Amino acid sequence: MRLACCTVLLFVFRLLVGLPWFQVLPSILIFYLGSGGWKFIYIFAKTIGRDVHAAGVLIKVKWNVKRHLRERNTLPKIFAETVRRHGDKTALIFEGTGEKWSFRQLDEYSNRVANLLLQRGFVEGDVVALFMESRSQYVGLWLGMAKIGVEGALINFNLRLEALVHCVTISNAKAVVFGSELTEAMCEIHSSMGKTVQMLCSGDWDPKHVPVGTECLEPLLDAAPTHLPSRPDHRLFYIYTSGTTGMPKAAIVVHSRYYRMAALVYYGFGMTSDDVMYDCLPLYHSAGNIVGVGQCLIHGMTVVIKKKFSASRFWDDCAKYNCTIVQYIGEICRYLLNQPVKDIERQHRVRMALGNGLRQSIWEEFTSRFNVPQIAEFYGATECNCSLGNFGNMTGACGFNSQILPFIYPIRLVKVDEETMELIRGPDGVCIPCKPGEPGQLVGRIIQNDPLRRFDGYVNEGATTKKIANNVFKKGDSAYLSGDVLIMDQYGYMYFKDRTGDTFRWKGENVSTTEVEGTLSRLLDMKDVVVYGVEVPGAEGKAGMAAVADPERSTDLEKFGKDLEKALPPYARPVFLRFLNEVNKTGTYKFQKTEMRREGFDPSMTSNKLYFLNPSRGRYVELHQEAIFSL
Ligand SMILES: *[C@@H]1O[C@H](CO)[C@@H](O)[C@H](O)[C@H]1NC(C)=O
Ligand SMILES: *[C@@H]1O[C@H](CO)[C@@H](O)[C@H](O)[C@H]1NC(C)=O
Ligand SMILES: *[C@@H]1O[C@H](CO)[C@@H](O)[C@H](O)[C@H]1NC(C)=O
Ligand SMILES: *[C@@H]1O[C@H](CO)[C@@H](O)[C@H](O)[C@H]1NC(C)=O
Ligand SMILES: *[C@@H]1O[C@H](CO)[C@@H](O)[C@H](O)[C@H]1NC(C)=O
Repeated sequence: MRLACCTVLLFVFRLLVGLPWFQVLPSILIFYLGSGGWKFIYIFAKTIGRDVHAAGVLIKVKWNVKRHLRERNTLPKIFAETVRRHGDKTALIFEGTGEKWSFRQLDEYSNRVANLLLQRGFVEGDVVALFMESRSQYVGLWLGMAKIGVEGALINFNLRLEALVHCVTISNAKAVVFGSELTEAMCEIHSSMGKTVQMLCSGDWDPKHVPVGTECLEPLLDAAPTHLPSRPDHRLFYIYTSGTTGMPKAAIVVHSRYYRMAALVYYGFGMTSDDVMYDCLPLYHSAGNIVGVGQCLIHGMTVVIKKKFSASRFWDDCAKYNCTIVQYIGEICRYLLNQPVKDIERQHRVRMALGNGLRQSIWEEFTSRFNVPQIAEFYGATECNCSLGNFGNMTGACGFNSQILPFIYPIRLVKVDEETMELIRGPDGVCIPCKPGEPGQLVGRIIQNDPLRRFDGYVNEGATTKKIANNVFKKGDSAYLSGDVLIMDQYGYMYFKDRTGDTFRWKGENVSTTEVEGTLSRLLDMKDVVVYGVEVPGAEGKAGMAAVADPERSTDLEKFGKDLEKALPPYARPVFLRFLNEVNKTGTYKFQKTEMRREGFDPSMTSNKLYFLNPSRGRYVELHQEAIFSL
């Protein structure tokens, strides 16, 4: 707009009035700056480097994806190239045993898997469920399946009973490969599964204690040939959404999406094949298996696989294996801060922490205490195409969108009722974009024929439609709804605020549970704190309730109440407190609130100690059954 005015002025001054250049240019510049243009120049200067880098990354990844699709390069083909280049370099280290696999060994193992499945009559499009804890074999198994077009269903190894049967059933798996450590879970569900499902067990096992008909995987693999069978490509595997509410959904991952997710992170954050990645995240999840392991398969990086995250061993492992990049997710960073200080936490070569969900309240404490120069925070769900990355090393941000050319990347924040998740629409029925500083839901436009932008959906079609809305950017379009509320600053940096539906209203104000959780946890020595809104009969909105994991009951309520007065405005202070030994988490360290929200503050629903904030005394007092009636 402003630029258009300047062009018109230029035209008028030069051609119609005939003023000389030395008068025209300064006056246009003064007009431009005077009309607010200098702010744009400032933002331009601050962000142009970041934007050019990001544009370069996007173009490079897009070009590579197109080339791979044109040349029909599947992930196994890309991996074959990695093996050719890196051959005897270490590909995977399994921290549990210290066992190292070179790229060649990983290749041979996965070829054996592929040949075994071929011998057994598996064909392209068949599904095999993979149910085991993280280890190198896990990667070899799904990679081997991919080599013959068999799709893996990567099942969360924490699942049991109905949830486990549900995940195996919706994937239509013809076989289940399970780790011997999960034999008990398999025995429990064996009778509920179809008779035709083949069972293969990996690891040390006892034939007496496994479900009837189970075969041992290792001898079969040893007998299988190590050459590469030939075939084309399709879907790679299914990943299940973590399911903080309800049953998990299976999200489809195709080869190009796997490549894209791994490559965006690799180029965006400036990694090299000489980096060593510490991957302590579960391999049934995209962060561990794509963002982590993908760097090994595609870019030839050494990846250290940890069976299970351990806060106390974290920095020792990093030092031992000379890791330069660590992965984190959800609450992991807070658990590390919760550990006693020791020397090793600064004596390592970690130059970057890569992940998502680092809370702004602990961001700087994390980088300074652990001597990690860069936080590579990114945003993006497996099934979401609206990925963001904090390429600019900006404290607290999870990504950005260009302010110079905001339309290049088709994502946007749109206004939403943070409580009900309803999109707020203008008079023309199209969503309203947010200005800097206004919270809004992140959405990504859907263009089905662009492989970079495609939403591959869920296995179950009904689940797909809930995540898609129409008339979002303009009339007649469709867009993916991320379900998360973010805020953008004037430079275009985006900051995670809350999940939609997690915000609640109290005393006429919006309370972000994410923010309150961050503050309370800091006041309570990094304890696990879960915040949610509960309905109080007769009161408008929802009252805040905080569940605090405190097995020793070490919280000093008097002090906590005082600290809280300084840290939070009155409406954000939790009205109810609940102390318990442990809060339930998903396999990816996200809190599960649904159950606790349902139980509310009714003492008869739980044996936990409950407290409420007595408004007249400004202190927390114990809540008894009778007190409820006088609230
Ligand atoms: C880590 O680096 C040191 C020094 O460069 C080297 O001696 C050691 O073998 C390395 N450790 C591993 C596990 O590669
Ligand atoms: C990232 O920012 C932090 C704090 O602003 C700074 O200390 C650090 O050196 C930066 N890291 C890189 C790699 O630029
Ligand atoms: C709370 O959020 C709603 C939209 O979700 C908005 O209309 C309202 O103005 C907000 N209230 C405050 C006090 O910020
Ligand atoms: C999100 O997905 C849709 C549909 O697959 C696509 O058209 C859209 O461009 C994607 N957005 C981004 C930012 O990738
Ligand atoms: C945690 O999960 C267990 C098992 O699903 C359940 O019995 C328990 O009630 C949950 N605890 C809370 C506080 O929700």
